[in-house]
Amino acid sequence: MSRARLLRELGLGPSWRLRDQAAAASAALPEAAAAPAAATPAPPAPTAPAADDRAAAIAAMGWEELRAAVAACRACSLCQQRQQAVLGVGDGDADWLFVGEAPGAEEDERGEPFVGQAGKLLDAMLAAIDLRRGDNVYIANTVKCRPPGNRTPEPEETAACWPFLARQIALTRPKLIVALGRPAAQTLLRREVKIGAARGQLFEHGGIPLIVTYHPAYLLRNLPDKAKAWEDLCFMRKTMTGR
Ligand code: URA
Repeated sequence: MSRARLLRELGLGPSWRLRDQAAAASAALPEAAAAPAAATPAPPAPTAPAADDRAAAIAAMGWEELRAAVAACRACSLCQQRQQAVLGVGDGDADWLFVGEAPGAEEDERGEPFVGQAGKLLDAMLAAIDLRRGDNVYIANTVKCRPPGNRTPEPEETAACWPFLARQIALTRPKLIVALGRPAAQTLLRREVKIGAARGQLFEHGGIPLIVTYHPAYLLRNLPDKAKAWEDLCFMRKTMTGR
């Protein structure tokens, strides 16, 4: 697919792109990139000893054990209605890690994140900055099982799933984490986040640079914000490649 066609699919014409790319680079990037990364607050206090043991066991797993543990997980009630848990997809050694919210109906059925409409847009967004799912890119979710009716995951569900995402980050050792939407941003930054205010800033999670942007499903409902998502993509690329 050509870049021009991709930009059309993102709802962005080429002339806008050139103007905006320059504006984004001059306005947001140097300042944001030079700013010290916002500190990640301390992880939550340990809860019960059993939860600590579980987290410690997960923290020692390799990819295959992790895949099996996620598939068998019954740590929260989301396991009751899932068809299958969805670990993640891509290159387990990727430089780029994209973190979404939770599987939807199609992901629950197919066992792969972002394969529905939002996934198609995510693929187009990746391609717009010369990235491809599975090629130096890993895609994961904050929670691994589909919440009923695609509701936002509850805090206890996110907490139960956190050791899995933490292990995915530790195994992948990405050079950049991209939080797609508010639940992912709040989980990774461990504080309240408003995407509109946080985008354009360089954060960090455990020493890894982290950028937040809109969730593709949000962009499908809010087409004008695709222009801001394009700025965010340029910011990500600039952060990773310097251009
Ligand atoms: N939305 C997400 O956050 N993740 C998916 O895998 C699909 C849709």
